[in-house]
Amino acid sequence: MENKKLVVGNMKMNLTLYEVENYVTEMKDYKDCVICPSSVFCSIFEQNGYIVGLQNISEYDNGAYTGEVSTAQANSLNIKYVIIGHSERREYFKESDEAINKKVKKALKDNLKVILCVGETLTEREEDRTKDKIKRQLLEDLKNIDVNSQNLIIAYEPIWAIGTGKIPSNDQIIDVVSFIKTTLKQELNIDSKVLYGGSTNENNIDDLNTIDIIDGFLVGGACLSPAKFKKIIETTR
Ligand code: PGA
Repeated sequence: MENKKLVVGNMKMNLTLYEVENYVTEMKDYKDCVICPSSVFCSIFEQNGYIVGLQNISEYDNGAYTGEVSTAQANSLNIKYVIIGHSERREYFKESDEAINKKVKKALKDNLKVILCVGETLTEREEDRTKDKIKRQLLEDLKNIDVNSQNLIIAYEPIWAIGTGKIPSNDQIIDVVSFIKTTLKQELNIDSKVLYGGSTNENNIDDLNTIDIIDGFLVGGACLSPAKFKKIIETTR
């Protein structure tokens, strides 16, 4: 079990109560993953024995912040993980690197395992700016963190691969994931797991799983289908 790759399902804003109840039953033999549902459904997964993560977290303690979820609330629900800085949060909700840095600090301080997402747009890749972008994101998002590296995980998610069915070649993934690991070590003295995310599915998982340097997968669309997600989890066991 020690070397098993970490599989994280990012359900985004999908599924209703009835669908969640069916999902929980169908996936009962596949709890060796982290599931990140909409926050309203976290308790259902947790009470059914799943390891649960949030898709976002507040940088604030508690109080008058309508619509937010705090680390204290997450801890009280036995939520273990939180995804921070997903490209959809950065783009649609205008989350800046500064705000993401505050969230990372707050979550680590309160003992949540942070999955920090970084990645380039198609234009940035075409203009050979992938590594500059990712280095900037890592340095700004992790600025002055008091890091317990066990609790920090990076997800490399090329934005052009998210939900598109396109994925980078294995060599491109190896190149960027190695770069992330080297940068973390050299600049911040952190050894961190690095996941790959972006159109991981039941058809490409066999091939992706051969990439040793990847420590796991952040799966969006395919985690919504128990059949597809089971195949991904099984392959990484
Ligand atoms: P996808 O999403 O697997 O649907 O591409 C991944 C993600 O956004 O984390």
